[in-house]
Amino acid sequence: MTSQSSSFTIRHASPKDLSHLSDVLTESFYRSTDRQGNFLRRCLTDWVYPLLRYGIMLDLSSRFNENTPCYACLVATHPANEFQAIASLEICMRYVPLKTNHEFWLDRDMHEHPYIFNLAVHPRWRRRGVAKQLLLAAEQTVKQWGFSRLYMHVLEDNQPARSLYDRIGYRLHIQEGAVSYWLLGRPRRFLLQKKF
Ligand SMILES: CC(C)(COP(=O)(O)OP(=O)(O)OC[C@H]1O[C@@H](n2cnc3c(N)ncnc32)[C@H](O)[C@@H]1OP(=O)(O)O)[C@@H](O)C(=O)NCCC(=O)NCCS
Repeated sequence: MTSQSSSFTIRHASPKDLSHLSDVLTESFYRSTDRQGNFLRRCLTDWVYPLLRYGIMLDLSSRFNENTPCYACLVATHPANEFQAIASLEICMRYVPLKTNHEFWLDRDMHEHPYIFNLAVHPRWRRRGVAKQLLLAAEQTVKQWGFSRLYMHVLEDNQPARSLYDRIGYRLHIQEGAVSYWLLGRPRRFLLQKKF
């Protein structure tokens, strides 16, 4: 599968992408963008960065080698360097509650559905429509698998991701983490759903 619109290409990842993908994920999920932030915390992040990156690379590599049915890792590249992945997302099968937030207490039936995780765009390539393009390509992939719904989690305080998902048509399915929200002030997790 290869899709090309605007200036980016979306394709399935290969083991050759492992190094770039580990960079994208580590930069996106562990590097603090807060330049004024705690100096000690930034030093610590710089120090553990190679370890985090290595751990992420091992995880990715084992998922690539498992040959699980209905697993995909999509990457985006720019024509300037088609070998360098600048963004990615993964899709797997996951049990999710059938009922919405309101009805969940009455019926906790779980069903297996395609689920997106690890969506990340390298900071240098953000706000150019790359994530949107990856998410639309993910829909095409799961349609080919015979499904018509996609799920994903987002943290309550991840405003960029929430705006993106809302814009593309993902809607709240279940709110999770109410106890740690009320007791510890931790952000809740929202399970989102899109039907197509
Ligand atoms: C969230 C993330 C994937 C968005 O990637 P992106 O390629 O910049 O997103 P896009 O350019 O496709 O954005 C499409 C739309 O989403 C919304 N959006 C994206 N980033 C936004 C931001 N920082 N603030 C407000 N809205 C935003 C906008 O509506 C945007 O359209 P516009 O640029 O025309 O206004 C990226 O910021 C990222 O990698 N973040 C760190 C990892 C992460 O949080 N992943 C999600 C885990 S749930």
